[in-house]
Amino acid sequence: MTVSKLRRFAEEILRCVDILEEDCLSRGVEVPDINDHQSYDNDFQRSKDNVLDAVNSIVASALALVHSVQSPIQSMRAVASGHIISASLRCAAELNITDLIRTGDSKGTHVDALAGKCKVEAGQLSQILRLLSAQGIYREISPDVFANNRLSIVLDRGLSSSDLVAVSQSHDKLYKTPQSATSALFCHLMDEAAKASSYLFEAVSDHATSTNKVYAISRAFNTDKSFWEIFELPGQENRLRRFGLAMEGVARTEPRDVVLKGYDWQSIAKGGQVVDVGGGVGTVSMRLASAYPEMNIVIQDRQSVVEDGLKRWADVNPLAIETGKVKLQPHDFFQPQPIQSPDVFFMKSIIHDWPDDDALTILRHLRDAAGPNTKLFTMDKVVPYTCDTPDANIEGVEMTGPAAGKAKSGLGNVLPYISSVLMIALLNGQERTLQHTVSLYRKAGWVIYKVYQSETQGQFGSQLQARPIEIP
Ligand SMILES: C[S@@+](CC[C@H](N)C(=O)[O-])C[C@H]1O[C@@H](n2cnc3c(N)ncnc32)[C@H](O)[C@@H]1O
Repeated sequence: MTVSKLRRFAEEILRCVDILEEDCLSRGVEVPDINDHQSYDNDFQRSKDNVLDAVNSIVASALALVHSVQSPIQSMRAVASGHIISASLRCAAELNITDLIRTGDSKGTHVDALAGKCKVEAGQLSQILRLLSAQGIYREISPDVFANNRLSIVLDRGLSSSDLVAVSQSHDKLYKTPQSATSALFCHLMDEAAKASSYLFEAVSDHATSTNKVYAISRAFNTDKSFWEIFELPGQENRLRRFGLAMEGVARTEPRDVVLKGYDWQSIAKGGQVVDVGGGVGTVSMRLASAYPEMNIVIQDRQSVVEDGLKRWADVNPLAIETGKVKLQPHDFFQPQPIQSPDVFFMKSIIHDWPDDDALTILRHLRDAAGPNTKLFTMDKVVPYTCDTPDANIEGVEMTGPAAGKAKSGLGNVLPYISSVLMIALLNGQERTLQHTVSLYRKAGWVIYKVYQSETQGQFGSQLQARPIEIP
């Protein structure tokens, strides 16, 4: 009898489990367990190629196995109802359920106690937590008693029991610890982003026929404003602030200081000038400024974000502002760039926010202000195709970094594509393939000559270096 595909998937999973167990054994650490609720830092050495390949292969094989054996109607129904999982997770996050469980009885917390503290109906809360437990987030350890697990602790904001009593809807209190940035990211995804996503179909259909490309998010908020303008509306101050922190949350999903790896910052460490265009509150520049305190950094963003940014720097690195090494400058990147010939124009997660024509305008303004030695250094996801692409390299583009040329495609690797479609819903933007990115930059007078990739799945921003050429 020939070996069935089911068995091949199962055998592949076992082969990879051997590799992961060996990884833990060699370091004398326990194999991660879904029921761990102390820390999710107990992890595999994903920086090692064979370990990362094993993790990726288990995810792909397990998904293939599930889709091969589960009734397709059941699988599709679960996907079609995925929004209710996201909505339930938002309830748990906004109600601080993870923090409440952590600060409660170590054996788990009864839903009546949780509901009393967060002032909701216990019957409804138990349904929500049960759905999440069935999804592997939280654990119902006895009827109506819930405990944290490896997934739920990602939402931990680090609040103490007294914080939790005093907590109101004030985001100053909710998001006061550094670890709360992750929760800020998830709450943004499950709030504004989820609302926008429900209008994706209407927006996409409309874009095909109309020149007035109404954003999905504008439909969701019943306004003619764009994503950024919605944050400026009265009453949206908490969302604006949370979004700033959510960008820190994004940075926390990446290896710390990954931005230091993809560019030779040492060459401009002593007094060079970097302009962080659309730098938000300066999340990435904070890493640069602490590694290279003599570098001159200007963070440009919208006025309201600059104001928020100054408060963040006062908390995190006041000296950098006092010495003038770091400056925050209001600037609209659709207007001519005021800083001429810096060493580096830096942008992280900017180009993916915009459709091609707007992205070209932003890139061209930087090109106009570039000197012959100015470099453009950007971080954006470079998404792989979902099929194999043997000829993925582009002439003249040097691929560097630990994951260079090892892009993984296909089943199980959904995050870059989620991000790409989300950009349509929020901003009419998109993540781009390498081919698309290279050609877009070239049209704006920038030639990409180096791409640093730190991981294989296109989830973290790839780091792209470009130099100015004649504008075609
Ligand atoms: C996705 S965030 C990235 C922020 C930052 N680069 C980071 O990675 O943490 C995009 C940023 O673009 C800024 N932005 C949007 N429109 C802008 C404009 N017209 N001029 C300048 N900044 C703008 C937003 O305020 C926001 O801070």
